[in-house]
Amino acid sequence: MNILLFGPPGAGKGTQSALMVERLSMKQLSTGDLFRNAIKAQTKLGLDAKQYMDKGVLVPDAVVIAMVEEELHKLGKQSFVLDGFPRTVLQAEALEKLMDKLKFKLPLAVFLEVPYATLVDRLSGRRVCKNCGETFHVTSKPSRKNGVCDKCGGDLVQRVDDSADVVKTRLETYEKSTKPLKAYYEKIGKLMIVDGIGEANEVSARIEEVMRKKNLDLEFRG
Ligand code: AP5
Ligand code: ZN
Repeated sequence: MNILLFGPPGAGKGTQSALMVERLSMKQLSTGDLFRNAIKAQTKLGLDAKQYMDKGVLVPDAVVIAMVEEELHKLGKQSFVLDGFPRTVLQAEALEKLMDKLKFKLPLAVFLEVPYATLVDRLSGRRVCKNCGETFHVTSKPSRKNGVCDKCGGDLVQRVDDSADVVKTRLETYEKSTKPLKAYYEKIGKLMIVDGIGEANEVSARIEEVMRKKNLDLEFRG
């Protein structure tokens, strides 16, 4: 089964996608990571996207949709988790068309629900490895050695868009552009709301439970 994870910045989309890759051997497709990789590689796509990301606003729909289409073609038949896409109703409509074209079923839309104060705490305490991109948190997931990645020994840094003023803009952007997706997926019977509070492993178990239920439901109805 394919899923898409959506929710406000800091809801745990990246953390949960990584756990699904580990536990369910799914392929993660994160638009945020794709842009960050492009920035690192200093491609035109990266340089263009950076202007928007550093301000906390969305990269234009057409750019994101073209990038996702290219990535989906590479996937083959492997189950996937979309992390951070779609993020606007226009992107959601484009995803439906893409899924049709590729003869995939529309993914289950899993919304991670986390209160505002927790989001701000998670984003301000996040640290990422400059080298491999692994994510930590100063209190909920500290690295063994301060400022050093457990996985590769690289330096841990704060993301440019995790500064207080950019976080505020990202949360506003979410309210305006991404939150309407809840109603969109509810209307087409694809929405599942999962409580994003608690240990990352507990949240992951909740996601797996809704996927299992949905699968059973599909089997039952044929
Ligand atoms: P993106 O990288 O997708 O950022 P985001 O959506 O703002 O999400 P985050 O990565 O900040 O948070 P997350 O939900 O993945 O949380 P995480 O697991 O890291 O996008 C960045 C930018 O790219 C956008 O602003 C936009 O400009 C552009 N972009 C990307 N996609 C786009 C699109 N489709 N359209 C247009 N533009 C696009 O967790 C956060 C912290 O909390 C971590 O430190 C983690 O350790 C901690 N944490 C996670 N889970 C828990 C838990 N259960 N308990 C305690 N701590 C936890
Ligand atoms: Zn690392």
